[in-house]
Amino acid sequence: MLYSRTLLIVISLFSLSITSPVYADSRAAVAMPDSYSANVAQAILDKGGNAIDAAVAASFSLAVTYPEAGNLGGGGFMLIHAQGVTRFLDYRETAPQAAHRNLYLDKEGEVIPYRSLVGYQASGVPGSVMGLWQAHQTYGQLSWSELIEPAIDLAKNGFIVHPKLVETATWYQNWAYEKADNLNFLDYFGNLEAEQTFKQPELANTLKRIAEHGADEFYQGETAQLIAKQMQANQGLITLEDLANYQVKWRQPVQARWQGYDVYSSPPPSSGGIALVQLLQMKAELSHEFEGVYHNSASYVHLLAEIKKRVYADRAEYLGDPDFYQVPTDKLIAPKYLVQRAKEVNPIRISPTPEIKPGLVESEQTTHFSILDAQGNAVSNTTTLNMPFGSGVVIKGAGFLMNDEMDDFSAKPGVPNVFGVIGGEANAIAANKRMLSSMTPTILLRNGQVSKVIGTPGGSTIITSVFQALVNNIEFDMTAQQAVDASRVHHQLWPKDEIGFHPSLDANTIQTLTNQGYTVSQRRFFGDLQFISRSRFGDLEAASDQRGRGESRVWIISE
Ligand code: DON
Repeated sequence: MLYSRTLLIVISLFSLSITSPVYADSRAAVAMPDSYSANVAQAILDKGGNAIDAAVAASFSLAVTYPEAGNLGGGGFMLIHAQGVTRFLDYRETAPQAAHRNLYLDKEGEVIPYRSLVGYQASGVPGSVMGLWQAHQTYGQLSWSELIEPAIDLAKNGFIVHPKLVETATWYQNWAYEKADNLNFLDYFGNLEAEQTFKQPELANTLKRIAEHGADEFYQGETAQLIAKQMQANQGLITLEDLANYQVKWRQPVQARWQGYDVYSSPPPSSGGIALVQLLQMKAELSHEFEGVYHNSASYVHLLAEIKKRVYADRAEYLGDPDFYQVPTDKLIAPKYLVQRAKEVNPIRISPTPEIKPGLVESEQTTHFSILDAQGNAVSNTTTLNMPFGSGVVIKGAGFLMNDEMDDFSAKPGVPNVFGVIGGEANAIAANKRMLSSMTPTILLRNGQVSKVIGTPGGSTIITSVFQALVNNIEFDMTAQQAVDASRVHHQLWPKDEIGFHPSLDANTIQTLTNQGYTVSQRRFFGDLQFISRSRFGDLEAASDQRGRGESRVWIISE
């Protein structure tokens, strides 16, 4: 018995060493969107859990303390690097069975404003609980119920409300309540007060049921009954059958080589990984144009905008759920294609927007966290309800908000969604289909070792934020904190020649870009990067974007 176990260990160590070296270290690192999730992730790693255990526990705690985005009623993507292998867990919401192409159009074929954004018809079938369950089933070391315990405690006994949570809730209430008349958001979140304790007893009970009975409770048990009953009473679309049929998908991450790193990022139904690789490769291809160009100068911003224009044109045309639409991933990230595409960039003048076509020849609120454990495993996880607080509908008796992810579909070709991005056939609505995302959880390996773990919320700006932070860190030698705090710029082809920035941009740069013909404006929402970075010399840093309420740490795990 002892002999065979030893043999097994020897064999498995041998096979692991073939795939990729496994790096152990005494240090762990987390970059989390709030202090509660940072505490929970650290406690789980300290008591012997791995990065995936910490991710599951932190996700449940965010469902309590970060109600604008942390969620049970939404979905997301988890990029996992474990035992030397990188895999992508797609727990994105799906369109309910009753959904169809013209769901949000009136008799004249016009888009009915806000129906895909607020209220009962805005929600896709939630994927979060099944996603966390599958991650734990595959990789977990600690028990499922142990991982949910901290969240139950935070819901039952309360947590201290951060002023930024109150700020977003007040904004949401003013924004959402004039757009639909059957919301119950305020019944649950109307008494949030900064620095006061906030308890969620119904949510605590829901979490207890999930801890006891696993994901089946949410999809087939009492929680499923509560969701379906409330949906039915309010012309919502999600049924018991939709919930029972929900499935996660394990997918191959998008992969590319860049600057000596192996980049792993999100495949369709996210546009994030493909777009990120296109941005990185086209910028590298244009290195001669970037020579001597200062960070965030007008020339720099213009060159980035020219690249981004082409990336977002491809996004609108080719990207959607790969189970419903044949996405030409390999062609879109083929070095030869990107070399050609980079040649179209005009280094001096703005390329006219209507002339930017997809390039292949025919043939606030989401949240992200990054975790690295001492065994060298990493999780890069982005999860969302779509808008802050999702559809504004709370499931009565269960205490959690439903998503408004249906707005990520293209309701009508060429009509922009809430993030201003357009789409067509590839991202048309269909029953059981996943809506196109921009979420870009990303991991970079160097010689097989995890070197960067990064991601952010921010709708369509997610892609350009991850891109700029990586370039800042790797090409401009910024520390992790400088890389996430530096001003960012965004362009997405439409609206025409519009460049958003946050939090600041040099006045001369703005003036020069304006003279060139750009409209340059400050944006309110621009992501909340959570970044773990190992330098070439082995130094480990973790950084949370100054724009959010995140907390990040590097510490030594005691034996
Ligand atoms: O999946 C997506 O791309 C969007 N639903 C993400 C929304 C988002 O990041 C909002 N946060 N500010």
